[in-house]
Amino acid sequence: MQELTVRLEMVYKQVRSAVSEPGSARVIDVGSDHGYLALRCLDTSLVSSAVCTEIHKAPAKRSETALILAGYKERSEVFVTDGLNGVPLMEGDIVVIAGMGGLNIIDIVTRALKDNGSEVMKKVTFVLQPQKSNDAVRKFLAETGFTYQDESVCCDRDIFYNCMRVTYKGDSYSLTDEEACYGPVLLERYNEGDKEVIAYFAHLDEIFEIRQRSNHVVKSALEARKKNEGK
Ligand SMILES: C[S@@+](CC[C@H](N)C(=O)[O-])C[C@H]1O[C@@H](n2cnc3c(N)ncnc32)[C@H](O)[C@@H]1O
Repeated sequence: MQELTVRLEMVYKQVRSAVSEPGSARVIDVGSDHGYLALRCLDTSLVSSAVCTEIHKAPAKRSETALILAGYKERSEVFVTDGLNGVPLMEGDIVVIAGMGGLNIIDIVTRALKDNGSEVMKKVTFVLQPQKSNDAVRKFLAETGFTYQDESVCCDRDIFYNCMRVTYKGDSYSLTDEEACYGPVLLERYNEGDKEVIAYFAHLDEIFEIRQRSNHVVKSALEARKKNEGK
């Protein structure tokens, strides 16, 4: 079975939670690189098939070769394309966009919504793991009308990562700066005493303390956090 890093294991667990009936859904891994996530999903019979997309030819070839060598030629497709271009979404799909910048993720999801329309989008689950710009991603998701199924965090080789599982509903709402920077689901987990989230927030507080000097959203989020924490 395909081994995963702690970060990708977290992403895989969000995919697993999105699957209602094992072996029925299709996973689409946007920016698949080595194809590890698709391989794990197929190895565990979590999905019926996997689609990998890659903007660059070399990683696309890596994904394709790995999937063929593992015996999944018939159950997988690899496309050299930008985001989800040329890959029409279907009901029940689970789209993963992991290990990319938040602005890139926003761009890919915006185009997917335009290309597929809101009715199809409502039947697809998105698993998003931004490497940065979480506040922008969360504000975009709220304004566009995505709701949270879950958000998780992990620490992989001393680096914290988070992963959101969201679905499109089409009803726009707004987030406070605190919710955008810390995550509405993670704020709830923090208040419930989740140890991993407490450690993650301590890390965020440290980096936000510096970033607030040049970023008014972070400044306002940090101030709200301190007020809510009674600091
Ligand atoms: C850092 S890797 C992450 C790989 C894997 N998703 C993971 O989480 O480990 C990012 C990959 O996304 C690809 N990529 C970046 N932008 C893309 C886009 N717009 N469409 C498809 N692939 C993209 C890159 O070529 C690279 O292989």
